[in-house]
Amino acid sequence: MAKIVDIINKAETTHSLTKEEIVDLLRCNEYDQQLFLAADRVRSQYVGDQVHLRGLIEFSNVCQQNCFYCGLRKENTKVKRYRLSPDTIVDLAGKAKSYNYKTVVLQSGESQSYTVTEMQYIISSIKALGLAITLSLGEKNRDEYQIYREAGADRYLLRIETTNPQIYKELHPGMSFENRVRCLLDLKELGYELGTGCLVGLPNQTMECLADDILFFKTLDADMIGLGPFIPNADTPLAQEKGGTFTTSIKVMAITRLLLPEANIPATTAMETLNKNGRIIALQSGANVVMPNVTEGEYRKMYMLYPGKICVNDTPKHCIGCITGKIQGIGRHVSTEFGFRKSKKLTNILQEYAEKDRNM
Ligand code: SAM
Ligand code: SF4
Ligand code: FES
Repeated sequence: MAKIVDIINKAETTHSLTKEEIVDLLRCNEYDQQLFLAADRVRSQYVGDQVHLRGLIEFSNVCQQNCFYCGLRKENTKVKRYRLSPDTIVDLAGKAKSYNYKTVVLQSGESQSYTVTEMQYIISSIKALGLAITLSLGEKNRDEYQIYREAGADRYLLRIETTNPQIYKELHPGMSFENRVRCLLDLKELGYELGTGCLVGLPNQTMECLADDILFFKTLDADMIGLGPFIPNADTPLAQEKGGTFTTSIKVMAITRLLLPEANIPATTAMETLNKNGRIIALQSGANVVMPNVTEGEYRKMYMLYPGKICVNDTPKHCIGCITGKIQGIGRHVSTEFGFRKSKKLTNILQEYAEKDRNM
């Protein structure tokens, strides 16, 4: 086994590791601080010290799927379902803009409760406000993805959840791993900035599975990677499971940063649920994005994927102040840009062209 510090150095300089090396890193806990510091350096070098805030609008908890881990699953009859009207969603986006958000993330359960025309209206109206739009609506057919892209959506988040086909199958009744991958490829081809990610600590998931997940993000050349611990929900079939740990989640995230240095990586809400300083620790271990909730009132509580979700009793105004203060407290600053993926390769090429132009 190569020395762990050598593996960390290799990852920091080459941004490439074998599956075995990733597994060694995940298994050994002695050098975690070195791993986090390396991820923090790579984050600073490639995506800078700014933190991009994305305003999260949880616009409906209606879902036709039955993912075993999720509180919004169709068979969970304890959830009171809601569906915000298209104009309410556009209003929330307008309020997010007034708090200086540059991007809103429209997230919901997977369902047909909005027509394609309604979604087009929502997307184009928000786009007209001058905001970037990320969608997170689950699996759709290619035509629907294309219509939303043409309406103005810039990015799409669809976690693969796990790349282990057996675990995928066990946890997603009626869904298929092949279709999940098809969705990701369609989204990429349609020119969305592509976000994916996984749950850490799913039943039967091994360190090898997590290493495969990280290598999958790299193969896909994902633009955004959202990772978080699986937190068991009492109203789901996985109520009795142990769930993921904070440390393993942060380690998976730090290794992801080392291997995909340009990616936008959020410090996720689930991390803060397990550790009250979770998002700040994540921001110091490779993350460069936070997605504060801009949904208002009782709906925050009704979008209950797992217990202990943060900010459920807070307002959008409170959250933006809270997170901005925390970010500044660690010497970072909130970005005033849209925060699209910065490609170093592309930037270098553009700089070369600019140089040539000047010398002509
Ligand atoms: N329905 C869309 C989808 O599945 O892509 C978007 C909404 S879904 C609630 C967003 C994410 O929540 C999922 O990708 C999943 O990883 C995460 N999630 C669901 N249940 C969770 C749990 N019990 N613990 C942690 N994260 C969970
Ligand atoms: Fe529905 Fe998404 Fe939850 Fe699965 S993870 S049950 S698709 S909301
Ligand atoms: Fe919501 Fe801190 S971000 S209370």
